[in-house]
Amino acid sequence: MTSENEAGGLKPMAKAVRHALGRQSVILVGMMGSGKSSIGRRLATALDLPFHDADAEIETAAGMTIEEMFRTHGEGYFRDGEERVIRRLLQSGSQVLSTGGGSVISPATRAEIARGGVSIWLHAPLDLLLQRVSRRDNRPLLKNDDPMAVLQRLLAQREPFYAESSLKFESRDAPHEVIVDEILDLIFTYLTAKEAGGGAAQPADLQGSESS
Ligand code: S3P
Repeated sequence: MTSENEAGGLKPMAKAVRHALGRQSVILVGMMGSGKSSIGRRLATALDLPFHDADAEIETAAGMTIEEMFRTHGEGYFRDGEERVIRRLLQSGSQVLSTGGGSVISPATRAEIARGGVSIWLHAPLDLLLQRVSRRDNRPLLKNDDPMAVLQRLLAQREPFYAESSLKFESRDAPHEVIVDEILDLIFTYLTAKEAGGGAAQPADLQGSESS
């Protein structure tokens, strides 16, 4: 049994999560290769919510690929666009949003994410990240001799920001539907505990899932 949205409508857990979310969004953060886009898309299908991939939206808005943006205008130009696009998306209503790995370095974006709903840090071991990002050649920051060293350095810079997320999920190589079901359970437990606590989030009470 999975939570995939079938002809009959939402599976019970997905329905419960939708109800608990109300108008909030689910926002996925984490390093390149952590699975934000592939999991986000399936999570959105399971919840019958719109899915947005911030990287794809930035490319559409700019009319060029991220690689071209980095090459022609530099990283700063990309980051400005990233900040604007994430703000616009999060203000457009309840959704599942997959962010780019570096978006959390912007304080404005972190504030938008915190306001937007439930954020989930998809965490994965560096060797798994490296294995996954090596399958494609589309990430400008990793186009150098030592992508592992770059991943390590970026993770060290970003970890405190990822850790501000509502939840942390240990990602791994498992079927997507298994991961999606586990994330739905996690969100439900989190939102239920939050409601029971009168508004104060208690992620530390969720075994194995606290993000800070
Ligand atoms: C980046 C991650 C990429 C993309 C850009 C920069 C980063 O997104 O936004 O190449 O700084 O970590 P993914 O995390 O979706 O790969």
